Amino acid sequence: MGKIIVSAPGKLILSGEHSVVYGHPALLTAVDRRCFVEVEKRDKSKIVIDDNYFGTGEFSIRKLQQFAKKAQEAWREFDETNNISKLSFVKEDNFGLVKIAVATVFEKTIKRDGGLVLKIKSDIPIGSGMGSSAALSVAIIGTLLRLTTDMFDKKEINRLAFEVEKKIHGKPSGGDNTIVIHGGLLVFQKNKGFEFADLKKDAGVNFLVIQTGRPVESTGEMVSAVRQKIQSVSRRTHYKFQKIIQRMGRVTEKFIRIFKKADFSQLKQLILENEKLLEQLGVVSGRTKKLIKELENLGVAAKICGAGGIKENSGVVLALVDHKDDIDQLLAKREIENFKIKINQRGVKLEKGQS
Ligand code: PMV
Repeated sequence: MGKIIVSAPGKLILSGEHSVVYGHPALLTAVDRRCFVEVEKRDKSKIVIDDNYFGTGEFSIRKLQQFAKKAQEAWREFDETNNISKLSFVKEDNFGLVKIAVATVFEKTIKRDGGLVLKIKSDIPIGSGMGSSAALSVAIIGTLLRLTTDMFDKKEINRLAFEVEKKIHGKPSGGDNTIVIHGGLLVFQKNKGFEFADLKKDAGVNFLVIQTGRPVESTGEMVSAVRQKIQSVSRRTHYKFQKIIQRMGRVTEKFIRIFKKADFSQLKQLILENEKLLEQLGVVSGRTKKLIKELENLGVAAKICGAGGIKENSGVVLALVDHKDDIDQLLAKREIENFKIKINQRGVKLEKGQS
């Protein structure tokens, strides 16, 4: 088999980030930004990684396996202590995810002597709530499983990608890898699985992604910060945050109903409500809150998408925009990156490498 290419989409959480961790549903969609991974065997023994964002690196499979083993041990310690800093070294290594994903497949399959060239091309913003890590894990595992076993089994790719995601994010809900695999628009509930929220017709709504910048905090750190509030020894704090999570769950149920019915008259109101709850949960930075308020003053509803960030940036913001001209001036003046986004896009795809 020659080159194998697998692509996987980025994602957005339309509603339900954080509350999904506590068993409430989340509404997720695959979007029209993708990660492409191309893999080819080479004669020399090392594994070459060529990433359009992080540059190149060359490693022996043994080194990758050692790194993955260290990450597995660190995850076990994190599981016992809830101390997410145990996993910091994975995030700090530009190739941390790639190393673990490659080693995860090679641990399962034959030991091999030959090397590989792995080329990564992605236009999904990194670490900003658009599922860049899930798309990369899924695409790497998809190519390597195809190369080593000749299979392209989505269930197995999903299972292994979730194992990789755990080393990056600690205890993710599993929503990101699931939407990246299946694509479309789906309702995900932890430990229950997912169902497609079939869109009866084109949503006909215009979404804009506004990039506030990569947060300093990782998803794992944000999830841990929320968990600490919910598990607070102060009963007042505990109840306050538990209530916010419950309200988020109810807002998401309304979101799901309006997408299933394709009646978007209430969408703006729901996005506003959702953002307020995320702010009360404490996952939106002061800077991002200010920007969202300015958008609201111009009649645009917007919410952060994903884990968020408190210290500086909060990742991407999803804005429901009727007339883009209204906010163009504001975004241009501040030089804030933004782009239109399509929802309900295709999941993982074997682009090249049919046997
Ligand atoms: O920021 P992202 O894309 O990693 O999304 C995280 C979503 C959370 O609900 C905060 C965590 C999760 O695992 O679902």
